[in-house]
Amino acid sequence: MFKLNKTAKSVAVVLAVSALALTGCGRSESPAASSSGAGGFAAGSLIGVALPQKTSENWVLAEKLFNDGLTQAGFKGDVQFANNGVAEQQNQISAMVTKGAKVIIVGAIDGGQLGTQLKQAKDAGATVIAYDRLLLNTPNVDYYVAYDNFKVGELQGQALLDGMKAKKPTGPYNIELFAGSPDDANAKVFFDGAMKILQPKIDDGTLKVVSGQKTFEQAVTQGWKAENAQKRMDSLLVGSYGSAALDGVLSPNDTLARAIITSVKAAGKPVPIVTGQDSEVESVKSIMAGEQYSTINKDTTALVNHAIEMVKGLQKGTKPEINDPTSYNNGTKVVPAFLLVPKIVTKANAAEQYANDKVLGPLTK
Ligand code: BGC
Repeated sequence: MFKLNKTAKSVAVVLAVSALALTGCGRSESPAASSSGAGGFAAGSLIGVALPQKTSENWVLAEKLFNDGLTQAGFKGDVQFANNGVAEQQNQISAMVTKGAKVIIVGAIDGGQLGTQLKQAKDAGATVIAYDRLLLNTPNVDYYVAYDNFKVGELQGQALLDGMKAKKPTGPYNIELFAGSPDDANAKVFFDGAMKILQPKIDDGTLKVVSGQKTFEQAVTQGWKAENAQKRMDSLLVGSYGSAALDGVLSPNDTLARAIITSVKAAGKPVPIVTGQDSEVESVKSIMAGEQYSTINKDTTALVNHAIEMVKGLQKGTKPEINDPTSYNNGTKVVPAFLLVPKIVTKANAAEQYANDKVLGPLTK
């Protein structure tokens, strides 16, 4: 059984995160081992896709892309959102196992809370692919497909520095830090990537976190909810910025970036340099209008397509392509991964980055 109470769960998450930290953000030396993919399975089989909550546009896009792509490849897709939380996602995965899914692709709400269901899946002979977010503390995950999340954080940290410098050539700069939802395995990785860039500048006095709230635990945004980020920004402004200027805000994604900008505007302050992620339509518009500073281009189509390519390979009995067999230690095993490369986007390169995107491209003209 893998059912953990709240305290045990936080301990497990801390352990997992420290295990990742010890190995350098999930980087480990031991070779990957996977026994799946050997036999293949019938064409037209059921493929389960368990998605989290609709906390950003990329998940909504993924739903349609998985439905269309799996159908086109001749599979039966069972694509589910778990808008009501972890228990719903657990039930959905169990149901996929019962229905005989041959591959279960999981974008976890909480990657450490699915152990029982993933064991059921493996016991039934299914292959488990972690999608976008790693599945933690379980041996029952075969592959991981995602954008390089640590790199996303590094790009965000660098963009924050570059944006502030372009506006005001010399520091010190007043900044605030926001992180994603602590139950999402990606949130700490994004934050750590950004802090790799920002921490030395905090240490040498170039950056000043005026509120003093510098840790991940202080910076988190429960449920990736815009209203939570907006409320926290409101209170940071009231508590720490009288007449002081706010030069920049590290925001882990676009939804939270726009909430932070709304809060700063409501407080009557000029919009600072704010980072983001996901290339959401409203944020790309905001970047082109000169408000939000940056986002990250992580094309969802490419990620879903790669996951579907993995499924096609597994169906034929061939091993999926992996380009990072050693980096992702989930606390129990090293999960063979295929990582895609995220790209930073600012007003300066948006047209080039979205040149082939039918929705975003025209916004950059
Ligand atoms: C994804 C981000 C997204 C966030 C909130 C993360 O796990 O990697 O792209 O912004 O979830 O939905």
